[in-house]
Amino acid sequence: MPGFLARFGVLPDSFASAHGRVNLIGEHTDTSEGYVLPVAIARHTRVELALRSDGIVRVASNAYVGDETFTLGREEKRGTWGDYVQGTVKAFAQAAPGAASALKGFDALVMSDLPIGAGLASSAALEVALIRALCTALGAELDAVTIARIARAAENDFVGMPCGIMDPMAATLATTGAALFLDTRSLAFEHVTLPPSLELLVIDSGVTHAHARGEYAARRDEVARAAYVLELKTLRDASDGDARTTNAAIALLSPPLDRRARHVVSENRRVLDALAALRGGNEALLGRLFRASHESLRDDFEVTVPEVDRLVAIAQTDPDVVAARMTGGGFGGAIVALARKGTAADAGARICARHASGGDLGASVIVP
Ligand code: GLA
Repeated sequence: MPGFLARFGVLPDSFASAHGRVNLIGEHTDTSEGYVLPVAIARHTRVELALRSDGIVRVASNAYVGDETFTLGREEKRGTWGDYVQGTVKAFAQAAPGAASALKGFDALVMSDLPIGAGLASSAALEVALIRALCTALGAELDAVTIARIARAAENDFVGMPCGIMDPMAATLATTGAALFLDTRSLAFEHVTLPPSLELLVIDSGVTHAHARGEYAARRDEVARAAYVLELKTLRDASDGDARTTNAAIALLSPPLDRRARHVVSENRRVLDALAALRGGNEALLGRLFRASHESLRDDFEVTVPEVDRLVAIAQTDPDVVAARMTGGGFGGAIVALARKGTAADAGARICARHASGGDLGASVIVP
């Protein structure tokens, strides 16, 4: 892959990067203003950028296929990776018109070692790295929450992915070694250190589902309908209420809305329990919560695939693994596990080998 100078004939004016994230627990809760608990992983997307003055934007990448070119102010969705760039530029112009008025085009090179489509928030990392590189080149300053909101608007309003705020907030605020406990309603957050006895393990199943975006949108609609029938603004309101009354009301919903709501409401409770378990170093409770989360995503929210179910089942029986579940939006992608300190690399290799011996090829360790 030629470097910036070889590709564009100039040196970059700025560069910036953003990391991927793995969500420990709190899946499909951010679209209901619920709780999430992501942690940063040491895989990054880096954007190098040189300003232009002719209104043209050109982007190239070692991670995304094909160069893309578009004209500023004439962004139009194409269904290619350039949509993330176009959407981000458009949302940046709307959210920060002062800074964006000085933007007259740019060349950018996007480099990444984050697997794409593995549920590790690669698109949020790209959007956040690009916004940061734009800010540096233009001498603009935006706070972390504003950057996250721009990235989310790029997804929601341009790319057409109706995601929540978790991924861009994790890209701007999470760190490795501490989980980001985020209330996606108030955007209040807190860094919670992982217990020193545990080590993070992330394995990509290598499976990606072609219809993941459509399925995600369908779940989001069902959750909104469930909230409407329950006469709530979002299911977050049910999660905070009295558990017995809430569960009884959910049981009266017609299928599959009952299952969808049950997942979101129980998952919010599991995040709060996991927070206490992390603080207290309660490994047995973490194991039970991760297991219950996976089962809920498999049976009630119906976003897992058999390859990922098998990978999680193998991880859950590994002697060094304390807790394991699917992570991210689902329909393929990665699993997250907590292993005993110093054992994660070996446990990961063992789990991938057992997965492969059962006929599932393509799983690989992402962390450590
Ligand atoms: C994707 C979305 C997030 C979140 C997760 C599921 O990663 O981008 O907003 O909804 O799925 O927890």
